[in-house]
Amino acid sequence: MAVSFCRLSMSDSSSENDESDRLMEKGGSVESLLPPTRNNVTNIFTWGRLYSLVLHILCLGLIVALWMSRQQSSYAAALRGRSWSPAAKHVGYEVNVEHPMNYHGVNKYAGLPNAAQDAAWDALIRPVYFNASVEELEMAGESFENIAELTGGGYPASLGAYHQLHCVRQLRFWIYRDYYYPNLTKAEDEYLHTHLDHCTETLRLAIMCHGDTGMYSFSWMDPKAPKPMAQTSSKLACVKWSSIEDYARSRMIPTHPSLIHP
Ligand SMILES: *[C@@H]1O[C@H](CO)[C@@H](O)[C@H](O)[C@H]1NC(C)=O
Ligand SMILES: *[C@@H]1O[C@H](CO)[C@@H](O)[C@H](O)[C@H]1NC(C)=O
Repeated sequence: MAVSFCRLSMSDSSSENDESDRLMEKGGSVESLLPPTRNNVTNIFTWGRLYSLVLHILCLGLIVALWMSRQQSSYAAALRGRSWSPAAKHVGYEVNVEHPMNYHGVNKYAGLPNAAQDAAWDALIRPVYFNASVEELEMAGESFENIAELTGGGYPASLGAYHQLHCVRQLRFWIYRDYYYPNLTKAEDEYLHTHLDHCTETLRLAIMCHGDTGMYSFSWMDPKAPKPMAQTSSKLACVKWSSIEDYARSRMIPTHPSLIHP
């Protein structure tokens, strides 16, 4: 609608210009004999032309505004379509510039495994489960078919971010399997492969869902290396992790909850 409005008014103003051009042509024979005067110069800026210029700018602005509202409404529509979560209203956001730029980076979660690191991961994953009510599961659209129940009543539940962290940790266990799984049997090895395939799929989908658009470039950190290394200083809009963690901790149940077996 806005576009056709623009076209209409633009053709209106151009036909008005055509009209004035023709009027000028008629008098041209007389005018051309006279030397150009200041009057002629000011004639270039007729009200009609100014009007059409303003309309052009307005139309461009309108198109940009329309395009921007489209972009936003696609996000808003996706937000409307997503499932309800009891944690959603507790989530805060912040700008985060943390990137693991050091390839040999060691921090409380990364590097060769040790007891302090295991403790940090345990603390990070600790609120993985909470006790959900029937109402919450219904509002979230969960299926009740074969659903697991807690011995003391209620249902074991978790948040997507905790499932993904669990997957990262499982992959870590596998990378350092000499440390975490000494004496792995063939059956255990097979089970882990299936489990870890599921974990890489979980992480692939999570990454593609959240679609980080931060820019990366490449740098010759080691000039003798065959390839440059990825680098980024991108600032990301991230959830404030403490907002999720505080919520999860406020409702957490044991990491090995007692379940009613069917
Ligand atoms: C889970 O919460 C319900 C209330 O929604 C409560 O009745 C039940 O005892 C809780 N279960 C456990 C294991 O704490
Ligand atoms: C693994 O096996 C070796 C020898 O077969 C044994 O000494 C060791 O205690 C085992 N480790 C675990 C964690 O079971």
